[in-house]
Amino acid sequence: MNRTIAILTGGGDCPGLNAVIRGVVRSATMARDWRVIGIEDGFDGLVGEPRWRELPLDSVRGLLPRGGTILGTSNRGNPLAYPVEENGETRLVDISAEVVANFHRLGADALIAVGGDGTLKIARALQEKGIPMVGVPKTIDNDLRGTDVTFGYNTAVGIVTEALDRLHSTAESHHRVMVVEVMGRDAGWIALESGLAGSADVILIPEIPFDLDAVCTAIDQRKVRGSKFSIVVVAEGAFPADGQKIIQLTGPENQGVERLGGIAVFVADEIAERMQVETRVVVLGHVQRGGTPSPFDRILASRFGVKAVELIEQGRYGRMVSLRGREVCDVDIVEAVDSLNRIDPDGDLVKTAETLGVMLGRSRPL
Ligand code: F6P
Repeated sequence: MNRTIAILTGGGDCPGLNAVIRGVVRSATMARDWRVIGIEDGFDGLVGEPRWRELPLDSVRGLLPRGGTILGTSNRGNPLAYPVEENGETRLVDISAEVVANFHRLGADALIAVGGDGTLKIARALQEKGIPMVGVPKTIDNDLRGTDVTFGYNTAVGIVTEALDRLHSTAESHHRVMVVEVMGRDAGWIALESGLAGSADVILIPEIPFDLDAVCTAIDQRKVRGSKFSIVVVAEGAFPADGQKIIQLTGPENQGVERLGGIAVFVADEIAERMQVETRVVVLGHVQRGGTPSPFDRILASRFGVKAVELIEQGRYGRMVSLRGREVCDVDIVEAVDSLNRIDPDGDLVKTAETLGVMLGRSRPL
């Protein structure tokens, strides 16, 4: 049977998106002789006059090592709460009926939505409104339930780990405390795993509100043991036990999505003031999302793309592809978007870090 399937990438970009597109196109066209079309800029491409393009086999040549997404993406195009300017004010309106109608105008039988929490929530809602949909989980934050890991995360951890390795020598030379802010929203995965891999002395994550006195004590103890420098990794969503996370922007202009950032400056200033040491702040920002995917992410993204096409072939809509152990499987999208995958403060990873002497912002329960 000849079929047309559509694919879009939504939310923040992430290494491995192009590998998914390649996996979808190759398995749909080579193994099944289906037609694939790509919708541009996430769900935004289905607003107004649809923006889309054909994705023949040769359009995915050389894509595996390429970061970003050839289809473009948007983390502002939520059709269920779309920002509309009226009398100088931004209002959020539901334009999902237009998006569903535009999708059917394209003549596609099904849609593969590649995205994180936000995109998959939209996908789930549009599935109920009449778009046969399969989800593919992506995010460097690794904060999605329903899968052991998302692609993009491994690459981000690699980038941060390399940065931490590099920061060690300069921190040591100048006897400084380097405070490194990393992404992850309200989940501390990037901070904790790259901090562990990169031998950070202090790791502050949103799941464990931190105590600055305990942080300073840990830095001081290092000095007593002969190390005059320290590396502090702080997740953008981390916050002090007696304070709140720092939000740069929220509200309708940002479609209700919080933009985080700034906690490293707060932590560095506090350490400098309390301890009379020299501190420096490094905000790794979007470097964590850029560039070529790691081999792990290329393979996972390819497997996810192939599995998504298989689900469409089987008519199993409303599902999300997932990695469980070493096997690719599928779960209900609802399972993935119900709640966030966050670090268990009493779990094995935290215990390992604390046993290794890493300060996680609380007095060690040993
Ligand atoms: O969700 C991925 C992510 O990179 C977060 O870690 C970060 O908070 C956010 O996106 C940044 O979004 P933007 O690209 O809109 O600045």
